[in-house]
Amino acid sequence: MITVETVSALREKVAGWRAKGEKIALVPTMGHLHAGHLGLVSEARQLADRVVVSIFVNPLQFGAGEDFASYPKKEVEDAEKLAVGATDLLFLPDVKTIYPKPQTEQTRIEVPGISDILCGASRPGHFAGVATVVCKLFNMVQPDLAIFGEKDFQQLIVIRRMVEDLSLPVTIHGHATVRESDGLALSSRNGYLTADERISAPALYRALQQTAASLKSGDRDYERLQEEAMVQLEAAGFRRDYFQIRRSQDLALPAKDELSLVIVAAAHLGRARLIDNLQMMLD
Ligand code: PAJ
Repeated sequence: MITVETVSALREKVAGWRAKGEKIALVPTMGHLHAGHLGLVSEARQLADRVVVSIFVNPLQFGAGEDFASYPKKEVEDAEKLAVGATDLLFLPDVKTIYPKPQTEQTRIEVPGISDILCGASRPGHFAGVATVVCKLFNMVQPDLAIFGEKDFQQLIVIRRMVEDLSLPVTIHGHATVRESDGLALSSRNGYLTADERISAPALYRALQQTAASLKSGDRDYERLQEEAMVQLEAAGFRRDYFQIRRSQDLALPAKDELSLVIVAAAHLGRARLIDNLQMMLD
């Protein structure tokens, strides 16, 4: 594995592979890598000849008062994990490489509508920051395909829509959420949990599973199911953000006879804001 920090070094390496007709996959990350990220890397390895992983903690997607300054950085350990996972190139740019100009002068990608609901309502500007950096990474690497986790379900939809709307020549693959044995979705932010909070944390996935079971048994009172889940989460020590049953295709409010649903949730536990989701097909 080689590590490059500049766009010119990245382009030179990728151009060599492309000249040989090799297929290139990109896995964008913010580092502090765990088995969820590495699952994306193994899928990339299976789908392409060359795997590029980027690690960049993107200031544009963090709001004021969020954890940009304290976001965990583990560059040496991350590079070791990627080398074991047979990554070909680690792109490790600094902020000036990605954003040479001040943030106020930076051109941004806005994916309207979908970026303003759910996580976008709680984190204004977040998805414009994500779409902008992912679009820049696509232009820098020019991959044939890119892999994103279903754990960040709304992010995946935002990126798919950006690719479609801007006719970007990249195929997007979604990768299933990787979980701890007790159901907690792996996340770089799980490290913010105290030992007691870590014991309570799987309640989020349990609430998703219980709501899914109620929907499967024919209960379509979405409002009541959502409220019951929130109350249950509060009893487990969470503070509410949202718990919503939505249409999985576009996260719109579902009709009572909608078959393809996703339950999406975000809640605070101590210092951590945890998100998770569960997709389901009713029949
Ligand atoms: P980050 O949180 O580091 O996640 C990088 C990728 O790993 C994302 O596609 C995310 O959905 C995926 N991922 C994280 N935890 C996962 C899990 N438990 N199972 C499966 N996939 C998981 O998401 C970002 O970074 C950034 O917003 C980024 C796309 C890199 C843009 O800055």
